Amino acid sequence: MCGIVGYIGHRDAYPIIIEGLKRLEYRGYDSAGIALYDGTNLNVTKTKGKVTDLECRIEKEITTNGTVGIGHTRWATHGIPNDVNAHPHYSNSGNLVIVHNGIIENYESLKKELIKRGYSFTSDTDTEILINLIQDVKQKENVMLRKAVQIALNQIVGTYAIAVFDKNKPNEIVVAKLGSPLTIGIGEDEFFIASDATPFLEHTNNAIYLEDGEMAIIRRHKNIKIRKIKDDSLVNPYVQELQLNLEQIEKGDYDHFMLKEIFEQPHAIKDTFRGRLKTEKGIIKMAGVDDNLEKFLNANKIIIIACGTSWHAGLVSEYIFENIARIPVEVEYASEFRYRNPVINQNDIVIAISQSGETADTLAAIKLAKSRGVFVFGICNVVGSSIARETHAGAYTHAGPEIGVASTKAFTTQITVLTLIALKLAKAKRTISNSDYHHHLSELELIPKKVEKALLSDSHIKTIAHIYKDVRNFLYLGRGYNFPVALEGALKLKEISYIHAEGYPAAEMKHGPIALIDENMPIVVIAIKKGHYDKIVSNIREIKSRKGKIIGIVTEGDTIVKELADYVIEVPDTIESLTPLLTTIPLQLLSYHIAVMLDKNIDQPRNLAKSVTVE
Ligand code: F6R
Repeated sequence: MCGIVGYIGHRDAYPIIIEGLKRLEYRGYDSAGIALYDGTNLNVTKTKGKVTDLECRIEKEITTNGTVGIGHTRWATHGIPNDVNAHPHYSNSGNLVIVHNGIIENYESLKKELIKRGYSFTSDTDTEILINLIQDVKQKENVMLRKAVQIALNQIVGTYAIAVFDKNKPNEIVVAKLGSPLTIGIGEDEFFIASDATPFLEHTNNAIYLEDGEMAIIRRHKNIKIRKIKDDSLVNPYVQELQLNLEQIEKGDYDHFMLKEIFEQPHAIKDTFRGRLKTEKGIIKMAGVDDNLEKFLNANKIIIIACGTSWHAGLVSEYIFENIARIPVEVEYASEFRYRNPVINQNDIVIAISQSGETADTLAAIKLAKSRGVFVFGICNVVGSSIARETHAGAYTHAGPEIGVASTKAFTTQITVLTLIALKLAKAKRTISNSDYHHHLSELELIPKKVEKALLSDSHIKTIAHIYKDVRNFLYLGRGYNFPVALEGALKLKEISYIHAEGYPAAEMKHGPIALIDENMPIVVIAIKKGHYDKIVSNIREIKSRKGKIIGIVTEGDTIVKELADYVIEVPDTIESLTPLLTTIPLQLLSYHIAVMLDKNIDQPRNLAKSVTVE
């Protein structure tokens, strides 16, 4: 993870880098640092803690002059979060400085070599090894910085997005990318460097997304040069116009990004099916599926790979694909799949789901699937992300930037895309009746309005949150389509409130978790009036007879669960396959309010980061 920012131009670099780092804190927030060149000195300040801690320290310690600099916000991999391990890192000469997002896997052997050659290290990081390797190459081969970076990177095993600055060549920053994202903003005689485009959105709309294996030499008053790291060949820069706007990446009137993103869901879901769902004509248009329809229709099996919340969206879709399109589905944790020897047949297809499009395990699982010769379809939110580029075809969720570390709108928009695909295939395979198909389309079109209605329970949910905020454990139960929603509800609570929570298929409760139930245990039961409603009502009775406290997520107008439960939260009625889009809303709000009441850091929960680019 980690976020990197850089600037070279005619303005003061400091405010641009600091504000940019704040935008990238979703990528890591355990320490931060900055290097600024003021025309004479290279001033580096770094600290454990957040970017605001860095700001406080900078005000006391260094001048903030200079029109060139690089900065970093860290999510620790090698070495604990502390001042020393924070980036930027110097080379032993004190001339070179680097910020790095990624992991150098062969750092130990490189370190041994460098120690033999007289180098010493102050931090526990792999990054300090890299900057000294660059220095060593530069001196040994007597080459300029960009060449030294290139030679050094060819000795590296691992992933990186780096920005390197040489005090003796202050009109240049060298950047490179392999496996971690890196974007260059092109302004009027100024350049911005960042892990994504959000840090420079208010300064320019033009950006170059560096590809894996590329480096860029960014010089003041000059054109950018892009080269292949492997063979030094020149690449034509491709400048894209950004489709983002500032409003999308700011909190607006909301206290937290998570709350903003929960409330954005009606709009986000609509954006997901906009231009795709043509209810009146009975058509679903999805270029990535249309262009590969034969592959989808001939699929023996769909293998879904993802992590975390995206994996839960995959689990929901297992029910949808199997029920309406009659295609067998396996849903795999990408982190397990990539190290197994999975049985994949030529006619299987793989669907990879990822909000960020950068998750290292998902990316590796995609590469494994591709090496077995199968078609891989990606469902991502971040346009142009690594997974979007690595897959053969795909569909974006178009949810807009998700900045809160806990995924919310990513989940519901991923389910929306997966539902569209399942419906499209079901129609083409004739595994769904015409009337059922049209009913699904019109119900899907109504979902944004129904999510809006579900959001109206916010203050009621806040009251329930207040009652249960001090318990140490929660259970979440659901069946069928709503079993993965139970998993997702438990994950949301764990992530942001640090309360232990477990999700279970309701009937499995009898096989173990029932032992946990007593008068202190709140159990959130998704008990909508669909599918196996009667069975879940029996499960609720079993819990009540053991004095457990029930919070029921029920269909509007439900009376049976209302009688049994301690509290109920109503959601509008819809067809069973679409219920997860509604039942998940109260669970997101419940976690949110509990975490706020416990005074937790909602958008930046401890130990987590938004995009997990390390395995
Ligand atoms: C949970 C959460 C994580 C992510 C997981 C996968 O709220 O955010 O579990 O879902 O790290 O991330 P993506 O979807 O970016 O691959």
